[in-house]
Amino acid sequence: MCGIVGYVGRRQAYPILIKGLHRLEYRGYDSAGLALVDSGGVLNVFKSKGKVAELEKFVESKDLDGTIGIAHTRWATHGEPNDVNAHPHYSDSGEIALIHNGIIENYRVLKDALIENGYKFKSDTDTEVLVNLIEYIKVSSGCTLLEAVQQALKQVVGAYAIAVVERGNQDRVIAARRSSPMVIGIGNDGDYFLASDGASIIDYTDKIVYVKDGEVVIMERDKPLKIVNLDNEKGKIDIKKLELSISQLEKGGYPHFMIKEIFEQPKTIVDCTRGRINAETRDIILSGVMDNLDKFLAARRIIFVACGTSWHASLIGEYLIEEFCRIPVEVEYASEFRYRNPVIHSDDVVIAVSQSGETADTLAAIELAKEHGAFVYGICNVIGSSIARATASGTYIHVGPEIGVASTKAFTGQVTVLTMLAVAIARAKGTITVDKAHQIAGDLLGLPSVIEETLKLNDFIADFSKIFTYAHNFIYLGRGYNYPTALEGALKLKEISYIHAEGYPAAEMKHGPIALIDSELPTIAIATPDHTYEKTASNIEEIKARGGKVITIIAKGDEQMQRISDYYIEVPVVAESLMPIVVSVPLQLLAYHIAVNKGRDVDMPRNLAKSVTVE
Ligand code: M6R
Repeated sequence: MCGIVGYVGRRQAYPILIKGLHRLEYRGYDSAGLALVDSGGVLNVFKSKGKVAELEKFVESKDLDGTIGIAHTRWATHGEPNDVNAHPHYSDSGEIALIHNGIIENYRVLKDALIENGYKFKSDTDTEVLVNLIEYIKVSSGCTLLEAVQQALKQVVGAYAIAVVERGNQDRVIAARRSSPMVIGIGNDGDYFLASDGASIIDYTDKIVYVKDGEVVIMERDKPLKIVNLDNEKGKIDIKKLELSISQLEKGGYPHFMIKEIFEQPKTIVDCTRGRINAETRDIILSGVMDNLDKFLAARRIIFVACGTSWHASLIGEYLIEEFCRIPVEVEYASEFRYRNPVIHSDDVVIAVSQSGETADTLAAIELAKEHGAFVYGICNVIGSSIARATASGTYIHVGPEIGVASTKAFTGQVTVLTMLAVAIARAKGTITVDKAHQIAGDLLGLPSVIEETLKLNDFIADFSKIFTYAHNFIYLGRGYNYPTALEGALKLKEISYIHAEGYPAAEMKHGPIALIDSELPTIAIATPDHTYEKTASNIEEIKARGGKVITIIAKGDEQMQRISDYYIEVPVVAESLMPIVVSVPLQLLAYHIAVNKGRDVDMPRNLAKSVTVE
């Protein structure tokens, strides 16, 4: 959740660290800070509450000399967001500074022991405990900083990606990780970069090393990179090329990343299907599925584990796989699955869906599934991410970096991949006809132009959104494939506009929620043509009969629905199973414009972070 960045080299570290922090701000933005060791070996820490821009203002008149440094943007876990709790944290004597992403679960026990040994604490964080523990070990045993880091980490329970610098050492940063992401960038000039993700250092290098769990990295100017474990055994240095362009990380003229990402969807669907659907034969080839066909064909069950938007996409995956493959599917919140002693068979296939590939709960659910011998398949966006590496095989959605906290193009990419996966398995299993498979493949190829057309609704929705900007609550309804779409529409609205919104299967309304209906509560009903169309129409009438205002998402020219709606948004129609991809576009736009009208920070909504790497 927090973002960390570091530099060792000949250049001034400050501009590199600040640029990296801006790129990492999607991970958390409660406070930011940095530590620099200047040419005289003096260790300076600067930090402040709020976004990176606040930190930049704070350091304006400070001496920022130093060719080595570490920096941090925080998503608060222990201790409120304020200047004192911001990272980096000094050790008690001020000799060492440390940044940390993760949670030290046994920090209380460690803190009590350090207090007994005379240590004083300034912050409420778990991180300050770790920096003091390192100092205590170093001073009391007379060992090196590296040895102290290794010994301290052996005592830690929890997750961490840390970086440490010390007074008097202008050449070296020590870093380590367990369960929190970290990459090292190898510069061309004997310099090294460190970050929570590759995107934040792509301006300087595309040669990166993914640090593995349990590894400690020693980055020293002009010296070869060293990787060891906590027992000082040497680790392998595997340099990869980062496939990313800087323009993908910029807003490209849009006011927010979210709207840029919404508008990218025609292209991201092309990228997602490229090389996977043969335009002539309409055959779908997903190598991850083909290479493991035996596992999918023998699957007793498919279990999805995911969180948030990825969980909504997984629900659509359930509908697709049950309809086309006739394999029973369960969709689990990763956070519940991992703690509820679930029944997992060795012939279950577990599919983990995650945009970031770093979600801590999903990673833990994967480990649990692996312990039970299940085959685990990943559907991720971020290449080389922890989930991509923890799973036996998988499919990337290839939608490019998603920076807005509200997931948009990743959702449509996930549903696209799930559709291809379901069709590929169904073809192999013989539970779908060749014609049907080809028809879906053709529809997928046609989706980019359908989304292009749907995006033309933007101006209309921008205008229309003004009517509902001040509503306090919303209900989103859908049935079948569009029930998860309703959940996703509601999530988009609440996370960026802070308006309470609930998604429901339309027919469930009469079992309770219909009591909420009055003229103040707008209902967004997805009412595109499908096999429950008439039933949805009745559900809408039930709401209208109780004075509710209904905004429908309907097929272009659908007069029946127009007549019963207070307002309607018309979309092009595609096959029933692909409608969520089309319908999610106006729902994304509506949430976006309402949030903008309310003056919300659309890309960095309060209390949230893009990738949730803590439990
Ligand atoms: O990176 P992941 O897909 O694993 O993230 C899961 C959720 O944290 C994420 O979808 C979250 O709900 C988004 N803010 C939704 O827009």
